[in-house]
Amino acid sequence: MPSVFIKTYGCQMNERDSEAVAAQLVAKGYALAQSEKTADVILLNTCSVRDMAEQKALGKMSSLAAETRKRRPEVILGFMGCMAQSRGRELIDRLPDVDLVVGTQKFHRTAEHLDALFSGKQDKIVDIDAEVGSESTIREHLLNDPGASLSVTAFVSIMQGCNQHCTFCIVPSTRGGERSRAIDDIVAECRTLASRGVREVTLLGQIVTSYGKREMGRQGDVSAFVQLIEAVHAVDGIDRIRFTSPHPKGYGDDLIEAYARLPKLCESAHLPVQSGSDRILKLMHRGYTRDRFETLVGKLRGTRPGIGISTDIIVGFPGETDADFEATLSLARELEFDNAFLFKYSPRRGTPAADLPGQIPQALIEERHAVLLQNVNEIISRKYAASVGTVVQILVEGPSRRNSTRLEGRTRTNKIVVFEGSPRHVGQLLDVRIERAGKFTLYGDPAILNLNVNGS
Ligand code: 5AD
Repeated sequence: MPSVFIKTYGCQMNERDSEAVAAQLVAKGYALAQSEKTADVILLNTCSVRDMAEQKALGKMSSLAAETRKRRPEVILGFMGCMAQSRGRELIDRLPDVDLVVGTQKFHRTAEHLDALFSGKQDKIVDIDAEVGSESTIREHLLNDPGASLSVTAFVSIMQGCNQHCTFCIVPSTRGGERSRAIDDIVAECRTLASRGVREVTLLGQIVTSYGKREMGRQGDVSAFVQLIEAVHAVDGIDRIRFTSPHPKGYGDDLIEAYARLPKLCESAHLPVQSGSDRILKLMHRGYTRDRFETLVGKLRGTRPGIGISTDIIVGFPGETDADFEATLSLARELEFDNAFLFKYSPRRGTPAADLPGQIPQALIEERHAVLLQNVNEIISRKYAASVGTVVQILVEGPSRRNSTRLEGRTRTNKIVVFEGSPRHVGQLLDVRIERAGKFTLYGDPAILNLNVNGS
């Protein structure tokens, strides 16, 4: 059978989609190639959030086309995911070596399309139509595949799409409107994962706080999303629950209260703030003010002291003045995020912000980005350093990505801890003492891999 190599760009949802496509292809008898050099099918799962992500995938595809067409002309080349969805046939017009374009609602049809291409029934395929029910098609997991270590964590897709229409964001057009899977379906998937050794799940969606709004609605004061968390919390064998990404606007008191009563819910939240200026937040159509965001962070920290809060910030949104930027800087200094992803504003086709007056010159965006980065990095390093000497619980995920002779795990607050352990620790919850802090990594003391070895 042919072999396939999938390269993924972008967010965790894309990683999850790639994994599901790989699992489906393996189920149909395809092999997974270790490298693009030997693969019979090469698929790029793309991201459209910024222009740079698109350019990377386009550049990669042209070099793949140049290499493979010379030596192995029969190789099938395809784009999947967000850029495939937003650009469609244009991709083949631009890169005629591309054989297949699969949109975000059609991942589950990839095998079918490959069959049609291999058999010669079709020559080029572009499949980007909307498909009812596609939010429920991402179910297959590729756990414990040969070569990878035992997977103790898994992403679970709970919904697709977003109706928020932030003015900078292309996601509503690449992922479509909000569609949620049923709670029972998600819980069944979590049970299967637990039975295969998974101990931590991350519930995924573009705007998880809107989960089930239309399909299920609230029960009393409890939103559908919190109902879902409760149901996953009841799954035996799942010890940790995370989710990403919530929208600050949808982070209601029921969700904050869930942190107080559901111990499996990890004290970690990724809360994209985007800007510290009310004027810019309004232009972005974010639906909250700085004050409301600060109150939310305060409530979370009050409920779970030490909770790890990360964020996304965009610098250089159209019309951003020095004063607006200063407001973002002061917010970052005041809230002391545990991690912050900084994005240089990138105009996206068809989004309202792309047509706003006051587009910021690139040099100024770079300058503001550098200032903010220096500030957030200093805060993050200080916070990492402050954890030295503390004892934290980690879930051991496998060999460290940087140094495979060591192991790594994550704290409940979502920080990576590297330590010297043995393979039998993989999959266990361990208490380790933090000895030293590196950049975005903590180092744990193996000496106190104490009494907790059977993962209590
Ligand atoms: N330009 C820059 N950053 C963007 N993001 C989304 N759209 C854009 C854009 N047009 C960032 C936001 C979002 C993260 C995933 O990507 O900060 O939270």
